[in-house]
Amino acid sequence: MSKIKFKTPFATTVGIGPVFETQEDKWNHVLKTASDYKCNILIEFGTYKGQGVLHYLNNGHFKKIISVEPVKEYFNESKEHLSKFENVELYNQKAIDYLTDSNLQEFSDDKILFFIDSHPQPPFVENSSMDLMDELNYIIENFKNSKYICLVDDVRIWGQKQGHPLKYKICKLLEDFSSHLEHYNDTMTFVP
Ligand SMILES: C[S@@+](CC[C@H](N)C(=O)[O-])C[C@H]1O[C@@H](n2cnc3c(N)ncnc32)[C@H](O)[C@@H]1O
Repeated sequence: MSKIKFKTPFATTVGIGPVFETQEDKWNHVLKTASDYKCNILIEFGTYKGQGVLHYLNNGHFKKIISVEPVKEYFNESKEHLSKFENVELYNQKAIDYLTDSNLQEFSDDKILFFIDSHPQPPFVENSSMDLMDELNYIIENFKNSKYICLVDDVRIWGQKQGHPLKYKICKLLEDFSSHLEHYNDTMTFVP
């Protein structure tokens, strides 16, 4: 697959542009991405209250959905709605801890969509941009032989501060390692 050539330097365009009008529009974009790239496993970072997972379950596209949420109260609330579904696994931890703890090799016959939607939400106020860099680095380094793509939401927060070095670091990492990048609304799809 050939790499997109951006008319303006990639990092200057990231985070500028429309956001999704509704949560449902965002969830439908996740489903469209999964369908376009034939991903049958969803690993979502940032469950919040589980409404996104419920939307995906209603659609029936995924064989399995894993969702990870560090805030205990959100995790508990999502568990109330989702524990009855056999193809859903919920984890109460940070995305990077899930990545380092889990054995994702079990999905070697499948294609994973990592949906990184872990924008901090009170009461969790850690630096999500630093976490994102760690998560992307971990995925790139550890899934060299796996079939996956990454969809990252809230790309506007990378550029919250003008000239923030992290925005350029993230863009450089993605440009160096991807065969294809798609910037749509407030999301970035990264294909290794
Ligand atoms: C925008 S909400 C997620 C919405 C949900 N994906 C949906 O579509 O319904 C962001 C969630 O990410 C969680 N979060 C923050 N930092 C995180 C991290 N490092 N790992 C995983 N989740 C994180 C927040 O607690 C919050 O619940």
